[in-house]
Amino acid sequence: MIRSVVTGTGSALPAQRVSNAELAERVDTSDEWIVERTGIRFRHIAAAHETTATLAADAARAAIAAAGIEAQAIDLIVLATATPDQTFPATATKVQAMLGIDDCVAFDVAAVCSGFLYAVQVADAMLRTGVHHRALVIGAETFSRLLDWEDRTTCVLFGDGAGAIVLEGREAEGDTPRGILSTRLHADGRHNGLLYVDGGPSTTGTVGKLRMKGKEVFRHAVVNLASVMGESLELAGLTADDVDWVVPHQANARILDATARKLGLPPEKVVVTVDIHANTSAASVPLALDVATRDGRIQPGDIVVLEAMGGGFTWGAAVVRW
Ligand SMILES: CC(C)(COP(=O)(O)OP(=O)(O)OC[C@H]1O[C@@H](n2cnc3c(N)ncnc32)[C@H](O)[C@@H]1OP(=O)(O)O)[C@@H](O)C(=O)NCCC(=O)NCCS
Repeated sequence: MIRSVVTGTGSALPAQRVSNAELAERVDTSDEWIVERTGIRFRHIAAAHETTATLAADAARAAIAAAGIEAQAIDLIVLATATPDQTFPATATKVQAMLGIDDCVAFDVAAVCSGFLYAVQVADAMLRTGVHHRALVIGAETFSRLLDWEDRTTCVLFGDGAGAIVLEGREAEGDTPRGILSTRLHADGRHNGLLYVDGGPSTTGTVGKLRMKGKEVFRHAVVNLASVMGESLELAGLTADDVDWVVPHQANARILDATARKLGLPPEKVVVTVDIHANTSAASVPLALDVATRDGRIQPGDIVVLEAMGGGFTWGAAVVRW
């Protein structure tokens, strides 16, 4: 039986870091309001030369180096983004060219903030067929380009960045093999109007701006995330007591707290980076994974639960033995 094992993580952030106080100079808001309602203190904002593809390629290079392989060894790139460089071709193919990979399968996945979880499930399924051997799974976004900077209810919440993992298909060994143990995804398209972008190539012919009914999104997020985490643990034959780390989508510190409480998980097992990255959509889970791997919190053998929820709605979770 083949399992998809995480062999490396990487991340990249734009050089420019913007504090709440700096934001308050151009938007009617305050550091106090943002910290109290969201836990966010900083976000990184891409400069003109930084794009989803450049951030993704930087994160991918770091993940490839951590895995100790050559870029040419990658035969699959699945890139989750809602902010591609171009409507087409897929940003994944741009990243392939930037990495100098001559031939591989490369495509994008669009599931907004859940995009990384969707990409992980797709890559895992493709690796387990045995046709592909080493995948780069990337979450990369430049949400700053979709924000309405006149709308203080949304523009303070998001940031730019990218995270990546290398997944390798390996024959499972022993009773507790490493790798992805379960994944579970959901979508409910009836909620389009609660979190969306008001433009697109086939409707307005424009890129559009992000619109959100924050309160309603918050309510759905806590219920859906707690339930899908429970489902993914059950599929893996585990319970909340077995979990070493939860690496959640970083949208709002209050959502992270409420979700962990619902599952009876102590807050010290939850990796939190929303304070330094804000909500980076599909990039947020792999960015947080990279932070907690590099600072030594996540260790080989640990049970790690990834979860995310976003526009659509879409939501999902994965259980990994690191
Ligand atoms: C967006 C969110 C932080 C707002 O928090 P909230 O407690 O629901 O706040 P409200 O929307 O009720 O707004 C409360 C007040 O703050 C004001 N406000 C909104 N944004 C503000 C800002 N940036 N600065 C200062 N005041 C602000 C509102 O105008 C409102 O004022 P009023 O009471 O005079 O009308 C919260 O709903 C949230 O995090 N939702 C989930 C969003 C999310 O994570 N989405 C992504 C999922 S992928």
